[in-house]
Amino acid sequence: MALTIRPATETDIQPICDLVNGFAERNLMLHRTPAQVRHALRDFLVAEAPEGVVGCGYLAHLSADLVELRSLAVAAAYQGSGLGGLLVERLVDMARDRGIGQVCALTLAPEFFARHGFERVDRWSISPKIWGECVYCPKFHVCDEIAVLRLIDPPSH
Ligand SMILES: CC(C)(COP(=O)(O)OP(=O)(O)OC[C@H]1O[C@@H](n2cnc3c(N)ncnc32)[C@H](O)[C@@H]1OP(=O)(O)O)[C@@H](O)C(=O)NCCC(=O)NCCS
Repeated sequence: MALTIRPATETDIQPICDLVNGFAERNLMLHRTPAQVRHALRDFLVAEAPEGVVGCGYLAHLSADLVELRSLAVAAAYQGSGLGGLLVERLVDMARDRGIGQVCALTLAPEFFARHGFERVDRWSISPKIWGECVYCPKFHVCDEIAVLRLIDPPSH
């Protein structure tokens, strides 16, 4: 299966929205508008297959040392073959290259993140900025998301 993970470009904006919003319709993640994706474009990675974008995720900068991994999604046909994990590792690499020491996420899949070195943390122990988007969430008053955090080793070279 020929797959490339690369930084997102303008032409990926609509495919990213289509992928993410398909899962958002099932309350698995937050919706993204084209304007939101364009605003964060330099922080997005996509996984590209011959038929187009089949995976994505991005880093939201919450503070000088903390990013949040958001909009992580893999198309159903590609799930379970390691692509989600690969996207996480590439996003962590991107954070490390930017000198960031911590990456967090709010997730319904803490076991998936645990496999990639994330630990469950008290949601209130992370920067309050992580909750900045929660007002847009349909589950705002009945939040079932779990906060996870990974400390990033500095570059070895
Ligand atoms: C979560 C997601 C990105 C994982 O992508 P993936 O390519 O399937 O991930 P990988 O192949 O690297 O890892 C798959 C493993 O993670 C586990 N996993 C996937 N989703 C999970 C979930 N919601 N809860 C717990 N474990 C999960 C799978 O069971 C699988 O385990 P196995 O190898 O023992 O069968 C993908 O399932 C997805 O896009 N889900 C819908 C959108 C979503 O929920 N995104 C939110 C993530 S915060």
